[in-house]
Amino acid sequence: MDLSGKSYKSFVERQEALKKQYSPEQASKQHVKGKLTAWERIGLLFDKGTFEEIDAFVTPASTPVEFGKIDRKYGDGVIVGHGKVNGRLVFAYAQDFTIMGGSLGLVHSRKITKVQEMALKMGAPIIGMLDSGGARIQEGVASLSGYASIFHNIIQSSGIIPQISVIMGPCAGGAVYSPALTDFVFMVSHTSYMFVTGPNVVKEVLNEDVTSEGLGGAEVHARKSGVAQMIYDDEENTILALKKFLSYLPSNNVENPPSVSDDGAIPNFNERLRDIVPDDPNKAYDVRDIINQVVDRNTFFETAELFGASLVTGFARLRGRSIGIVANQPKVLAGVLDIDSSVKGARFIRFCDAFNIPIITFEDVPGFLPGVDQEHAGIIRHGAKLLFAYSEATVPKITIILRKAYGGAFIVMNSKFLGGDFNYAWPSAEIAVMGPDGAVAILYRKELAESKNPVELKKELVKKYRDRIANPFIADESGYIDEVIDPALTRQKIISALDALSNKWVKVPARKHGNMPL
Ligand code: HXC
Repeated sequence: MDLSGKSYKSFVERQEALKKQYSPEQASKQHVKGKLTAWERIGLLFDKGTFEEIDAFVTPASTPVEFGKIDRKYGDGVIVGHGKVNGRLVFAYAQDFTIMGGSLGLVHSRKITKVQEMALKMGAPIIGMLDSGGARIQEGVASLSGYASIFHNIIQSSGIIPQISVIMGPCAGGAVYSPALTDFVFMVSHTSYMFVTGPNVVKEVLNEDVTSEGLGGAEVHARKSGVAQMIYDDEENTILALKKFLSYLPSNNVENPPSVSDDGAIPNFNERLRDIVPDDPNKAYDVRDIINQVVDRNTFFETAELFGASLVTGFARLRGRSIGIVANQPKVLAGVLDIDSSVKGARFIRFCDAFNIPIITFEDVPGFLPGVDQEHAGIIRHGAKLLFAYSEATVPKITIILRKAYGGAFIVMNSKFLGGDFNYAWPSAEIAVMGPDGAVAILYRKELAESKNPVELKKELVKKYRDRIANPFIADESGYIDEVIDPALTRQKIISALDALSNKWVKVPARKHGNMPL
């Protein structure tokens, strides 16, 4: 077939026009801002030569009212399609800021909804790479409806296919709800930002001066708002991390996560685990040191590291299989549960549950964070989310109590009677209604007040409380946990438990949905 012949002239011309559209001048507009082009992003994400573009030639819709100018370029400012990432099918869209600021008009939105619907039908993850001035002003209500359709599709696909957003430029106004609705948000430091109302409006309405970065940069969303879970210094590293991240996830909710081979570097009997928790219960340690000695070597991928940091969450592998980790972090606020860490944990658990990823909990928690701020901001409501998420999850759930497991926090962290499948404790565990100091102060208030040597008496009572009550043996002997284990055997115990749970089946009562305390 002669593609340059007369009957195909328009075909060749169109191809050439499309190629010209992505000129070096266009690319340099992105590069000077420290950003890559939409095509460069697609090139980094997909396995070489596997990306198939869809709707390359669509052009913007006509608008009923003339206002401003519409750039009638092919593609309407977004590249959509599918390809392979590490050999697995993935759909994606990448907004092109060089065409009308990547703004979202009707046709642009229809391209996105088309791949969203394909991804859902084919049970494959979808990645959105966002770099856009938001709703296209010239197209008015049509672009708003376009956003609404995208939001609706994200919600319909939620829990069926993994949906991940990568913010690589501006994301402002109502447009922010597109990433906010997806499972995970990646951001690039210094070149991406998200806010509902920008610095100009903030100045006008509140007379406050703030930069885009200060209002909604990557650091702000990763550390303070919790909107972004992963941030990296540049786009290459962001996309590399995203590819690694995808390797832990199944393509959809009826698949199991992919399995890889384990290098066997972490022994099932690992004596190093005996020396990480300090003898002094008031001394901190990094729970990641424990995680890394239990899971397959170098497989722990932490999520939302900077937000709610008294709780560590992330994916890892055990004998090559994906697991989700939730762990109190004694290094931060003694591992206490506060509003941010409760919400972070709840959302992570729900993701794992939706995508068949077993949840392993490492517990060392003194309780919920006390104080007026936390109470007034709703620690009751937010803590309840964590409780709800754990209890509702039907994937295999295993807990290892490392040290403190006091009060409501003991119950919340996947306790046996909340539906935990296997609950183990290390000999260093302290399981009780409250910590020794608080318990002694309440139960022996009078005696301490009347004592000639209250300091000595308190010391004695605290020791007695630890020996008699705050230890794992009472819980073990009465069946509230399954076993007190040698820390060195932790990996082996979890592997055996996961094997036993491989056909776990839970009958969930019929209902439209539960009513999580949002
Ligand atoms: C149409 C837009 C646009 C938009 C940018 N452009 N945003 N065109 N609709 N929303 C165009 C510009 O006119 C310009 O065209 C080109 O994109 C590049 O924009 P610049 O302003 O030159 O770039 P920069 O200086 O980098 O600033 C980027 C920006 C700014 C901060 C994003 O463009 C901006 O503030 N845009 C508006 C953001 C916004 O408020 N959007 C609406 C949000 S509300 P030329 O031809 O000059 O190259 C929303 C509602 C969603 O999205 C509702 C969902 C429910």
